[in-house]
Amino acid sequence: ADLITLDEGYCNTGSCRSAITYIDGEKGILCHRGIPIEELAEHSDFIETAFLIIYGHLPSESERDVFSELLTDNAALHTTMRRHYAAFPERAHPMAILSAMINALSAHDRPKIDPGDDATFEKYAANLMSKVRTIAAGSYKTSIGQPLIYPRSDLLYAENFLHMMFSVPYHEYELKPEMVKALDLFWLLHADHEQNCSTSTVRMVASGEANLYAACSAGVVALWGSRHGGANTGVIQMLQHMRREKISPEDFVRTVKDRSSSVRLMGFGHRVYRSVDPRARILKQAAEDLLAALDVVDPLLELAQELAEVALADDYFIERRLYPNVDFYSGIILRALGIPLNMFTVMFAIGRMPGWIANWREIHNNPKTRIYRPRQIYTGEVGRSWRPIEER
Ligand code: CMC
Repeated sequence: ADLITLDEGYCNTGSCRSAITYIDGEKGILCHRGIPIEELAEHSDFIETAFLIIYGHLPSESERDVFSELLTDNAALHTTMRRHYAAFPERAHPMAILSAMINALSAHDRPKIDPGDDATFEKYAANLMSKVRTIAAGSYKTSIGQPLIYPRSDLLYAENFLHMMFSVPYHEYELKPEMVKALDLFWLLHADHEQNCSTSTVRMVASGEANLYAACSAGVVALWGSRHGGANTGVIQMLQHMRREKISPEDFVRTVKDRSSSVRLMGFGHRVYRSVDPRARILKQAAEDLLAALDVVDPLLELAQELAEVALADDYFIERRLYPNVDFYSGIILRALGIPLNMFTVMFAIGRMPGWIANWREIHNNPKTRIYRPRQIYTGEVGRSWRPIEER
């Protein structure tokens, strides 16, 4: 028999070589193409960071203009694409709609990209990034029974999303700069994160030579779960539950520690970080700044801060080195922007698109890529024979 090394959950298996994102989990360091996330958060924006992640360098002015123009030109959905919304039930989860619509888009566009053909790649990558945002806003509009809003060519990426989400035919949504900035930062901080569950899924699918859109649609589905992208929804649900049931942070932490309960402290813990997730630190500050700028008090922010304080001082979390992750404070920002809870993971997916696209490209352009094909340790029956039905 083959000698197989078992690493359940891939805790210590490098699945690939990648030049995109670097994480030092012990020190809490995250860099994209060598640039620390803190510098990008302070000086860059989502679109520039997306370009950096996808192409490996910060864009020149003309590269940026071309990319931005492609994003603007590709924002609107083809009428036949718009018709797909009508086929979903009213209560369809926006993640289901998003993944299905990305696949539908691949049926419409039939993206064929030869390895190394950068011009074609850029066209499809920008088209996908741009349309994902339009699809997401459209799924929200459909869910609340409002007409779809067309993108505007004079608005930038984050502005256009807020416009498509919140404008109605008889009233243009008033864009507030602090909201646009917070949304852009939220996406920037989600842009890529090494070989997490969804990105590995994208690479897995890409390794079989599936097209860019199909691979990203698989990424959306992988992101959906509550231990991954679904955790940002889980954090707010947890905080709302605590408030509704008047559960104190101390009591909640006690329940989490009780091994007979399967309750986890959502937004805490990470496979790679054994210290604070640097994105959580930036998002905490951003959440506080946004609420202050909007002059809004969100009792959930206060509760989250208290809960984090109690957990961080507790032996259970200290021993296991569990700290706040990217999802712990991000929901506070999304709430302040008026994004409904069932759209939170969709917001994560829009932000993660550059990472998925860059990882797909890395696989696709590498002539040495082998199909991803892990092995297993077989634990089933052996030596059985088929028996006719009357003998079973
Ligand atoms: N609350 C309570 N206990 C936890 C938590 C938590 N949030 N996270 C880990 N633990 C415990 C776990 O029970 C285990 O304890 P023991 O060794 O006694 O059995 C130990 O810590 C190690 O946990 P693990 O599940 O083996 O760790 P993992 O690396 O497999 O899982 C994780 C990582 C992120 C899935 C997990 O920490 C978790 O479920 N966190 C809550 C969900 C969450 O916030 N997910 C977002 C992750 S970051 C962004 C993203 O990927 O989308």
